[in-house]
Amino acid sequence: MARTLNIIGSGRVGRACARMWAQAGVFGIQDVLTRSRASAAEAVNFIGAGHAVGRLEEMRGADVWMIATRDDAIVPSCVTLAASGKVTPDDIVFHVSGATSSSDLRPVKEKGALIASVHPVKTFTDAGQAVESFPGTFCGAEGDAEALKVLRPAFERIGAKVFEIAPEMKPVYHAGGVFACNYLVALIEAALRAHEKAGIPRAASLAALEPLVRETVDAIFERGPARALTGPISRGDTATVARQLASVRAWDREMGELYRSLGLLAVALAEADRRFDARRAADLRAALVIPHGTRE
Ligand SMILES: NC(=O)c1ccc[n+]([C@@H]2O[C@H](COP(=O)([O-])OP(=O)(O)OC[C@H]3O[C@@H](n4cnc5c(N)ncnc54)[C@H](OP(=O)(O)O)[C@@H]3O)[C@@H](O)[C@H]2O)c1
Repeated sequence: MARTLNIIGSGRVGRACARMWAQAGVFGIQDVLTRSRASAAEAVNFIGAGHAVGRLEEMRGADVWMIATRDDAIVPSCVTLAASGKVTPDDIVFHVSGATSSSDLRPVKEKGALIASVHPVKTFTDAGQAVESFPGTFCGAEGDAEALKVLRPAFERIGAKVFEIAPEMKPVYHAGGVFACNYLVALIEAALRAHEKAGIPRAASLAALEPLVRETVDAIFERGPARALTGPISRGDTATVARQLASVRAWDREMGELYRSLGLLAVALAEADRRFDARRAADLRAALVIPHGTRE
């Protein structure tokens, strides 16, 4: 018989995973708790299995507990779960956050539970879409070996590619995803603002940037970041870089800082790819240094 699963927090990630597990017969979906009984009922409807509850006291015992609340609510939810007496030794309790480690679940470990974290490297904007596109998703896992013995195959059965991650590196590991996903969005916003400053309306700018961004992203995954790099830094155009930094800073100091720090990373990438020699790299770095006394 399939192990029973209780869910605390069933938004985009919780309900998408639960639906896939229900359909694959991996877990018997049991009780689902969110902040309101109404949203728990919605989650159960989406999952196609389980029982919506409005309070932790209403939850039955289960073999596995998934905490898929927003990150800030993981520890308080775990503290309440530990105090409830619902968790029995050898139950598995796990969360799905990339930003924090399974050690956040210490309160239930003290009650004898096995703890873990399995983080899907995926953006869940909509649970329905996530179910469709989940197969092939990489998941960073860490925690008690006995818990992972159950969770790894559970995630693999719904198409995940599970890899291990050191718990103490979770915040830095998660920053990798933030850079690639969230900050890519922020970077496009920086480009739009620069175009807007130059008199190009946002809609026209988005249309102009789309092929540029798509071709760049394709090149990164076809040839690797170093080979995909084009533009003044990759050519070693020191004077252009210095002029551009000055113009961007004159327009907006924070944008200038962004230009500068990303520029230094681009220099390192181009240098490692032997686009120019160490002397040209030093010149470029010097062009990216803000003159002393002009910082705010
Ligand atoms: N979204 C992503 O792209 C993504 C990717 C990988 C991992 N994650 C991780 O997945 C976890 C959940 O993220 P999400 O995007 O699915 O969040 P979400 O869509 O905002 O859903 C959060 C769920 O937690 C419930 N909740 C919040 N506080 C609670 C509490 N104190 N007790 C019980 N339930 C509570 C909410 O209830 P209501 O429905 O009543 O508001 C909601 O059902 C986070 O740890 C996040 O880091 C997210």
